[in-house]
Amino acid sequence: MEILDGYLPASIQRAADLLTRGELVAFPTETVYGLGADALNSLAVAGIFELKKRPHFDPLIIHIGEKEWLRRYARSVPPKAAELASRFWPGPLTLILEKNDLIPDIVTSGLPTVGIRMPAHPVALELIRRLDRPIAAPSANPFGYMSPTRAAHVAAMFKDTPLLILDGGDSAFGIESSIVSFPSDSVRLHRHGALTAEDLTCAVGPLMEKKNDGSCESPGELPYHYAPHKPLVIVESIGEAKNPRSSYLSFKELSRNPEVRHIRTLSPKGDLREAAANFFSFLIELDREDVDVIYAEKIPESGLGRAMMERLHKASRKYLYITR
Ligand code: TXA
Ligand code: MG
Repeated sequence: MEILDGYLPASIQRAADLLTRGELVAFPTETVYGLGADALNSLAVAGIFELKKRPHFDPLIIHIGEKEWLRRYARSVPPKAAELASRFWPGPLTLILEKNDLIPDIVTSGLPTVGIRMPAHPVALELIRRLDRPIAAPSANPFGYMSPTRAAHVAAMFKDTPLLILDGGDSAFGIESSIVSFPSDSVRLHRHGALTAEDLTCAVGPLMEKKNDGSCESPGELPYHYAPHKPLVIVESIGEAKNPRSSYLSFKELSRNPEVRHIRTLSPKGDLREAAANFFSFLIELDREDVDVIYAEKIPESGLGRAMMERLHKASRKYLYITR
């Protein structure tokens, strides 16, 4: 385990050399930290699945260094995809497009489509451009666990593994990218993420939401993803927080009970962007406390609040799945 300052050119060079040799590197993005491999090297990509204990049927997204690279790896680019890329890249948006033969099947778990994103974090961009190849990267957490938003989270999650981590500070958004696909030239939202549905709608008109018939197009849509180890329960309000064996994730309300120590307030002034930036790191902290259950206060379901509530719902369903 080695953490290097990602803003130093020598660190970027070290990381790029490791990637060239087929090894893994954890790196910062503006959404969450990624666990990267050279996307064109199948064996290297296999290492990601191994380290994350991620089922092989869960496809990875690739990170590119310039908008133009889109056409290097996508067989075709529908007009609405081109429009979204020009508006929101670099940034927290993943486009699902038909892949060409340069992208190995292990990246997409055999799907004919690949998720592509140009991240905005300067360290990520430097690294990809130095490598001059796309980097396949899921969030740098063990499968099913929450995404890391700082280098120390990654270090704690993979503490027994030799792994180079580039430190680029706290992820500005703190929540994963939004994912869209383009069935018959419409736009379907697969995952609510750091770019809001409202922003997407402004750019390309009404969105199709993902199917809600229980079918599962990609396992990232498993109903119990992004979960802490402790059971999580969503509550209307944590105003009456009282159990010292519980921890509490409050949206903006402050607890009135001084005996409740394990409490984090996402944004005292109720700002969704600030809340998203704190979201995973606070949940990770609360999950580490010696408590039996985490209570999470409801977050207003507009903009980034949708993305956070989606993750809370998934985390709370994991518990139901276990106990059912
Ligand atoms: O913000 C992010 O997207 C971060 C940073 C590191 O870029 N990455 C990330 O990757 O969240 P990951 O693997 O944790 O989540 C990507 C999701 C998965 O749920 C996967 O199932 C879905 O994207 N996905 C990838 N390729 C797909 C495809 N071809 N079709 C449908 N879903 C896909
Ligand atoms: Mg993930």
